[in-house]
Amino acid sequence: MKKDEEEKEVNNHKKIFIIIISIVVIILATSGLFLYKYYNKNKFVFTLKKSITLPLNSNVNPKEYIKSIKNAKVKYNKVKTDTIGKKTITYIVTDNLFKKKHKYTYTLDIIDDIPPVIEGKDNVSLFVDSKIDLNSYIKVSDNYDKDLDIKIDGEVDNKKDGTYKVKYIATDKSGNTSEHTITFTIKKKSIYDTVKLEDGVIGTSSKGYKIENKGGATYVGGILIANKTYNLSSSYGGGLKKSTSSAFNEMKAAALIDGYDLRIGSGYRSFNTQKSTYKRYVKRDGQTKADTYSARPGHSEHQTGLAIDICAAGYSCISSNFNGTAPANWLSDNAYKYGFILRYPNGKTNETGYKFESWHYRYVGKDLAAKLYNGGNWITLENYLGIASKYSQ
Ligand code: DAL
Ligand code: ZN
Repeated sequence: MKKDEEEKEVNNHKKIFIIIISIVVIILATSGLFLYKYYNKNKFVFTLKKSITLPLNSNVNPKEYIKSIKNAKVKYNKVKTDTIGKKTITYIVTDNLFKKKHKYTYTLDIIDDIPPVIEGKDNVSLFVDSKIDLNSYIKVSDNYDKDLDIKIDGEVDNKKDGTYKVKYIATDKSGNTSEHTITFTIKKKSIYDTVKLEDGVIGTSSKGYKIENKGGATYVGGILIANKTYNLSSSYGGGLKKSTSSAFNEMKAAALIDGYDLRIGSGYRSFNTQKSTYKRYVKRDGQTKADTYSARPGHSEHQTGLAIDICAAGYSCISSNFNGTAPANWLSDNAYKYGFILRYPNGKTNETGYKFESWHYRYVGKDLAAKLYNGGNWITLENYLGIASKYSQ
């Protein structure tokens, strides 16, 4: 009996123990499940999107690269996009549950995807023999790079008329490239085309004088020359020069005392006036003959404002009938005293390029005029300076 009771008591203890264990297990399981759910609900999540490339100077908002964020606070740095290359955004993520900081990085690749800009005309028209610097017809710029690679594909033969295509290719350091093609038209110069002389030394005469273009005219040894070889810019001139008119007035007064009433038959003539004058003669006599007595536009000394055709009252004016007349002889003997030279003397056609003109005088100043007068045996400017007077075409 006693044994039965003892057994019963042990069984009871066992039961109680099992119940207690069961309760503990249930409590632990329930709280474990609860904690698991709580943790899952409050666990931080932070993921970033895939890295991307962006053009220079893009606006960057680091928030945009966060794919997901939960239960956390995030801080990040700003990045500048004004230079190319890889830029790093660092995200410091603090989770709400454990207040622990986590570090993430995101890389942006900043690229230059804008090609250089080539500014230039589509068509350029030039005369045969013009100086051509192909680089001077374009302006190249770039949004980022200073040093650009510029290739020129094509050539222009400035000796031959025709059309030439030249392709300009500009490439920046990132490999962006752009192209521009200019069509050059090289044409033969007509004797009636306007011209513009470029300033600069163009050579030395056979007598050692410097030949220089300045302000639309050519100077040989400092003396302005307009003849068949050396022309003036079309826009050169604007009336008789003061030195010319005051020297003429001085000479006129002296001639009057000797009984000659001198007048200016033709003084300054513009490029356009000479053009119509010369064209009229070409129409009347043909170009070859006209070239013996009339200058082509741009080649007339009358455009310099230093030349005058002198007439005398009562005598033929600007005509070979004036040759050998008393006022023509007076001029030939006295004009040098006032600074004038007989510009196209008799028998000097091979030097001056023109027939004898007894009325055409050129102001050069008294010293040079006296030298060229040469006791009545006129020396031409061409001979004195060592230059030619011949058209190139
Ligand atoms: N008669 C001269 C050459 C001229 O036309 O200028
Ligand atoms: Zn003249």
